Amino acid sequence: MMNKDSLVRKFNKQAPTYERNSRQRTLGKWRSALLQGIEGNVLEVAVGAGANFPYYNRDAVDLTAVDFSPEMLKSAERMASELHLDVTFKQHDIETLQLPEGSFDSVVSTLSLCGYEDPLRAINMMNEWCKPGGSIRLMEHGISDNKLLGTVQHLVNPAARRISGCHLNRDILGIIQSSGVEIIKSERYYGGMVHLVWARAT
Ligand SMILES: C[S@@+](CC[C@H](N)C(=O)[O-])C[C@H]1O[C@@H](n2cnc3c(N)ncnc32)[C@H](O)[C@@H]1O
Repeated sequence: MMNKDSLVRKFNKQAPTYERNSRQRTLGKWRSALLQGIEGNVLEVAVGAGANFPYYNRDAVDLTAVDFSPEMLKSAERMASELHLDVTFKQHDIETLQLPEGSFDSVVSTLSLCGYEDPLRAINMMNEWCKPGGSIRLMEHGISDNKLLGTVQHLVNPAARRISGCHLNRDILGIIQSSGVEIIKSERYYGGMVHLVWARAT
């Protein structure tokens, strides 16, 4: 188990890279597809540098964004102000965040389940914070279904966790399937390592 302060420091250091990628619209095609039709009171967990901000309809969403890294949040604030997107920011650890049950119409998480100590609990919390029947949209990475690639991911995982704070070899789809959310549709890309998931809160 990694100490949370050291994890926050790791992500703080990566904020300039995430900000650059957000400006360059990295993974924009998938982010845009994932956020189609999202509206209302929206919670984005582990927002990073605001890479999803360009894909929200700013007239249709009331966005709350949470991350535990103050440097990521500064980058995200710059992105929001450039896009004239109104966002309420909260600096908090998602794994200890307490929000009223059913307080959001939608919950969005992209590339966040790789970082938590307990990803299953985190997704179940997202399910709880979302209104029953509300949208849960996820873009997450994990273990490939290609044997060779998966073996490489297992081998490099300890170094990846140490350097970037992310786990590379989690069975992300399995974790989502075993959570309380109801999966409507899922797509798998990039050697089977990236999942786009459209789900409903229950
Ligand atoms: C891989 S980045 C993804 C950022 C962004 N969601 C994106 O799609 O580009 C992971 C983000 O999760 C944040 N994070 C990781 N664990 C967290 C936790 N327990 N609580 C809050 N934020 C966390 C990091 O600070 C970082 O901004």
